[in-house]
Amino acid sequence: MNVLVIGKGGREHAIVKALSFSQTIHELHCAPGNEGMKKEAFIHDIDLENLDLLKTFVSQKRIDLVVIGPENYLVSGLADHLRSWGVKVFGPSKSGARLEESKVFAKQFMKNANIPTANFEVVNSVDETMEAAKNFSAPYVFKADGLAAGKGVAVCQTLKELKAFAVRCFEDKIFGASGEKALLEEFQPGYELSFLILTNGKEYQAMPLAQDHKALLEGGKGPNTGGMGVVAPLNIHVNLEKEIHEKILKPTVDHINKSSIDFRGVVFVGLMITESGPMVIEYNVRFGDPETQTLLPLLDGDWGEVFSDIADGTVKPLTWKTQCISCVVLAAENYPASPVKGVKIEGNLQSSSAFSYILHAGTKRNDVGDWVTNGGRVLNLIGLGATHEEALSQAYKLSEEISWEGMQLRRDIGAGISSI
Ligand code: AMP
Ligand code: GLY
Repeated sequence: MNVLVIGKGGREHAIVKALSFSQTIHELHCAPGNEGMKKEAFIHDIDLENLDLLKTFVSQKRIDLVVIGPENYLVSGLADHLRSWGVKVFGPSKSGARLEESKVFAKQFMKNANIPTANFEVVNSVDETMEAAKNFSAPYVFKADGLAAGKGVAVCQTLKELKAFAVRCFEDKIFGASGEKALLEEFQPGYELSFLILTNGKEYQAMPLAQDHKALLEGGKGPNTGGMGVVAPLNIHVNLEKEIHEKILKPTVDHINKSSIDFRGVVFVGLMITESGPMVIEYNVRFGDPETQTLLPLLDGDWGEVFSDIADGTVKPLTWKTQCISCVVLAAENYPASPVKGVKIEGNLQSSSAFSYILHAGTKRNDVGDWVTNGGRVLNLIGLGATHEEALSQAYKLSEEISWEGMQLRRDIGAGISSI
């Protein structure tokens, strides 16, 4: 079959790389892709908003299956369009994407399905936020309802901070329509886990657990980012895992089914493991970035077959390798606020060994053929090993070979893993 992957970041490079090993694929395409993927796929810088153009493209390239990476395409209903043209899709329908598109919708979904999550109130203005805050205590968690590329959430230590963020959301409208309503949520201390499940909306197969490091700086400090590094798989106590399946994963899929939502793809369940048990922090309706970079290589199987099966509505049992994988993100100067683009990257970007390799997330070649930064998260360094320590040391070894002015990385990825 011919496959098209949609997206351009490190997550999509990981998907493309995983599919490049598939025995079932004749041609592998990615749009818009990035130049670092050229070894594995044909990349096409086409305007994905232009549906007529896309329809012609998938027909000319005889695309059988599309794998959609980023949420914005799912939210705009791209999976439904492709299906209506007779193309198989890994990715939920527009109605399934509501779980990520609206945090208020997701909370109501959890409430209806009796899924543990932090207490919340829906707020529509600064005044309502401050009134609702009387029912909570510091720190206050404020979340703009809609998509905001990870920037719509603030954990505020004081009422003053909360008010300032609410003003930016409701009055300065920095999130546009995504900030028309918001959640004020109870702060839940604990540790975070990413639990991803592959589902047809009725049954599911869980992927191994991963742990992202979302703060920009070491020790969990600094602003929230899309993710600065991941370790996988994580082994948690069997009773906790069972509890997560019974109280969260199964009820999530059952409620998708009960709501008659066409969901053929992946649900990313962001969990907080608190003293009173696991709670859902958020749902995403796509693979995590950079979780995917560590999870896909753990499959003992063929991703071409798995994506195709799920797109057909079939979930088959999956087996996973026991290997450890880590991903260390190299980010541009001034990420996440406004990353500096166009800075020349020094080092061998093709560097790889049996235990390490590099995925491209935000790079391009300039006019004279040098690699330059072209996004917030620029490169993903992947390390493999029998233990987390080995995998991490392989990833960090690669970091010694790469540099550019203002490059940022966290040197403590995986440091807290022993306490889980
Ligand atoms: P979200 O976009 O909803 O995943 O939130 C971004 C980050 O904010 C999460 O990864 C957590 O680190 C933090 N966070 C969100 N909700 C809560 C909460 N209720 N309690 C504590 N931390 C939270
Ligand atoms: N790494 C977190 C996310 O993909 O949302």
